[in-house]
Amino acid sequence: MKILVTGGLGFIGSHTVDALLKQGHRVVILDDLSTHKGLVPDWYNQAADLIVGDVTNPPTMARAMLGVDAIYHFAAYQDYLLDFSKFVRVNCVSTSLIYEIAVARKQALHKVIMASSQAVYGEGEYCCSHCQKTFYPKARKDKQLKTKQWNIICDCGHFAEYVLSRETFSNPYNQYALTKHAGELFALRTGERFDIPTVAMRYSITQGIRQSTANGYSGALRVFTKALLNNKVPEIYEDGLQLRDYTPIQDVVQANLVVLDNPIANYKSFNVSSGKAITLNQYARMILKDIEPIREGRYRYGDTRHAVSDIKGLCNLGWVPTGNLQDAVDEYIEWAKTQTHTFRYYGENEYMEQVGVIR
Ligand SMILES: NC(=O)c1ccc[n+]([C@@H]2O[C@H](COP(=O)([O-])OP(=O)(O)OC[C@H]3O[C@@H](n4cnc5c(N)ncnc54)[C@H](O)[C@@H]3O)[C@@H](O)[C@H]2O)c1
Repeated sequence: MKILVTGGLGFIGSHTVDALLKQGHRVVILDDLSTHKGLVPDWYNQAADLIVGDVTNPPTMARAMLGVDAIYHFAAYQDYLLDFSKFVRVNCVSTSLIYEIAVARKQALHKVIMASSQAVYGEGEYCCSHCQKTFYPKARKDKQLKTKQWNIICDCGHFAEYVLSRETFSNPYNQYALTKHAGELFALRTGERFDIPTVAMRYSITQGIRQSTANGYSGALRVFTKALLNNKVPEIYEDGLQLRDYTPIQDVVQANLVVLDNPIANYKSFNVSSGKAITLNQYARMILKDIEPIREGRYRYGDTRHAVSDIKGLCNLGWVPTGNLQDAVDEYIEWAKTQTHTFRYYGENEYMEQVGVIR
């Protein structure tokens, strides 16, 4: 097949491009180099054609889609910053353009695979340990976080247990999650309406080499590694007991391949995660070894307390996550040492403080 990969120079995109080329597909990448400071990164696989351009630009997207049989749509704006309209423009307009162009041209597409996110669950689902009520909490308020009350409490005043997120619900709150959810809904429903087989992938925090250093959303591994390489002491937000299911990149790539040819996946969303929950403190130990991070009880406004996905849906299609997280961490740190230009500290934490994201 001829396959368009938007954001194909990025982290998940470039690893997926490598795997698709290995399988014998022809690949076209559409990428505006925005997370690479305008330069083509050294991992660009030259067996793929490259169009440098913006996914929100109709003529550019139309050109990139010419003659393609399938599309992976990875290009996105991801951060904690407050330029809300940019999230809508990049994440929603681009997704709708794919369908607008395909419908106008009557282009037969075998599959559109859209990068959604675990972020669509927001604070997720909880079950009260006392009254047994199941509920979907709103985003935690600043008033609560200021008192260092990190956990979710039921209305009845008792502690509530986090439940693994299943694809059956969504509860997005921050600007990134809202636009990922809107893009996902748009893709799945418009795809179904116009017979364009579509799948949405709700990735958990993915880990591995080539992970972007350009946004605050890319998680603890990048942040801690960057601090280490710049002789700064890394900081743990909240109390470090947040649960996450960090996922090695090779499992994500395999998931992307599994849904390409399987018609059972059509018009559905799938969680893509290691399926293994660990606390941020445990993860910090895997990265920092014996370095003790700063713990001042600061927090990022908009973070979720826990984020762990149920992966039965994708496993039922034959996908099995096998990646080793410690290997992914070690490989990433070694790689980061070779990327000194992008791992230079430029005061992004100070900026996030200034705009009120870190409190
Ligand atoms: N990495 C994760 O942990 C993770 C988790 C959940 C969801 N996702 C989603 O998966 C997708 C890929 O994430 P990633 O980590 O590989 O991101 P990334 O930043 O590494 O890659 C994104 C690529 O898209 C390009 N891009 C950005 N805006 C563009 C635009 N307007 N036009 C054309 N190209 C543009 C960038 O230059 C970059 O190469 C994204 O949609 C993201 O929201 C990622």
